[in-house]
Amino acid sequence: MKRMAIFISGRGSNMENIVRQVKRGKIRAEAGLVFSDKPGAPGLKKAKAFGVETAGLERSAFESKELFEKAILEILKSRRIDFIVLAGYMKIVGPVLIRAYPGKILNIHPALLPSFKGAHAIRDAFDYGSRVTGVTVHFVDEQVDHGPIILQEAVTIGLRDRLPAVEKKIHAAEYRLYPRAIELLVSGKLKIKGRKVLIRS
Ligand code: GRF
Repeated sequence: MKRMAIFISGRGSNMENIVRQVKRGKIRAEAGLVFSDKPGAPGLKKAKAFGVETAGLERSAFESKELFEKAILEILKSRRIDFIVLAGYMKIVGPVLIRAYPGKILNIHPALLPSFKGAHAIRDAFDYGSRVTGVTVHFVDEQVDHGPIILQEAVTIGLRDRLPAVEKKIHAAEYRLYPRAIELLVSGKLKIKGRKVLIRS
């Protein structure tokens, strides 16, 4: 079975959902590691409670992003990690990791890319007055919120919805979409062709 690392920076609710789906056999991979750039991230405690190995490294402890990522890479290698899923990881992944895991890093973004890139996508779509937003799972490349799209799900912003209601709908969509995309990756069904992802049936 392929071994997965889940990268988080905060509460880790997607990580929790992914680990649950692994335990239920809905994702046929092992949860080999939860890594955080915030050693105090609440998600790390949750991961430990699930019996998943954890590691934390702070960017500020390293002179450069390159050295930071080389240290992460050592950890990933020592845990025999085959692929990475970013789940609320708030650092931009750099060339060291991307080149070590080509086509093997996924991200989830809480908007319909290429709209509303960046760290406040749910609020940005809401403030813009969008009536439809959503969730995107995509491969990570060297540009932010940019790589080939695997799955998207639309979420309607009702005329009476306030921001917390929209956030709730987005997270519910994330919990449906991310495990499906990860299972597609581990079952070898995804092929990247230029900007597009082909899904074999
Ligand atoms: C999610 O909305 C995800 O799309 C974004 O960051 C948030 C992480 O939430 N990249 P959580 O830590 O999984 O609860």
